[in-house]
Amino acid sequence: MNTDNVTETEIHYRPINPRLLGNDFKFNFNLYYRTRVDGQLKYLKFADQSNQHKDKVLNLIDSGDLEEELFVREMDMVDYYQQATEVMQDFIVDTGISVKEKTGRVYDLSIDIMDQFFKYQAPANLLKMADPVMEMMDQVFSQKTVGFAGLGEILNKDYYTYTHSVNVGLYCMTYATKVGMSSGESRELGMGGMLHDVGKVTVPMEILNKAGKLTDPEFAEMQKHPEAGRDMLNSMGCFGNRISQMAYEHHEKFSGSGYPQGLHGEDISFEGRICKVMDVYDALTTRRPYKAPMTPFKALEIMNKDMAPEFDVSILKRFIQFLGEEA
Ligand SMILES: [Fe+2]
Ligand SMILES: [Fe+2]
Repeated sequence: MNTDNVTETEIHYRPINPRLLGNDFKFNFNLYYRTRVDGQLKYLKFADQSNQHKDKVLNLIDSGDLEEELFVREMDMVDYYQQATEVMQDFIVDTGISVKEKTGRVYDLSIDIMDQFFKYQAPANLLKMADPVMEMMDQVFSQKTVGFAGLGEILNKDYYTYTHSVNVGLYCMTYATKVGMSSGESRELGMGGMLHDVGKVTVPMEILNKAGKLTDPEFAEMQKHPEAGRDMLNSMGCFGNRISQMAYEHHEKFSGSGYPQGLHGEDISFEGRICKVMDVYDALTTRRPYKAPMTPFKALEIMNKDMAPEFDVSILKRFIQFLGEEA
């Protein structure tokens, strides 16, 4: 599409964190700033793709507070994150930086991507970034065993759909690695975990963020997210079946009383059953405005007793065993 012919009001702009671009950026997109002209918000070009604007951007980064300062066009978001990923690639191979710091940085980038996705309701092509960020995580994890204990130190314990998504991705990937799956398979599990709730982007915010119990119609709306997620991922054509299945099946229960299909036992895919355990564990151990986080011990106790029929017990048992070994 030739954007020069598109009127400004038709272009959407998204705030970015220019720090993610690093010091040596070669961006192939323009950066914009926002200003008010005659009472109307306007986006004006701050820097284009030529090198002469680089200093201007670096000075701005040095100046400190950058919140909502710079924007890129929505259609350039993937390029922006690709640039951020390249910067991160150099960072994660630096032997002078600790694995904890590297994991933290890749985690923050992943969180940023999922936050953008949920906050601005797509575009879905942002989700393609799940692949490079999980690949980087896998790369960092292979430098030193991080394990569940290492994850516990890094993961954000405040529950938001975007933090929860990345957390579940990392739990799934770590579980897969621990049970001896190949690096490719583990990464796929990680991506599936990270994308399991993407269908929630179609659920109205007031239902998604409601503090109290959902009414029946609200719950019915919420229950559409597994199918919406599967359809979104399938329509992108770049994710394998296992990944979209994790989105579709993570609310199925081993006992058969889950949704949307009411699948029973091993009719639920192995990946779906893993995702279910990690999804519940993260939900219980994170803080919400109306609920304190449970300790890992308490969460596992509840999962192992009252909630046990929901899970594939062999997966749950191994998960508990891994957590125990590392404690
Ligand atoms: Fe879900
Ligand atoms: Fe979830």
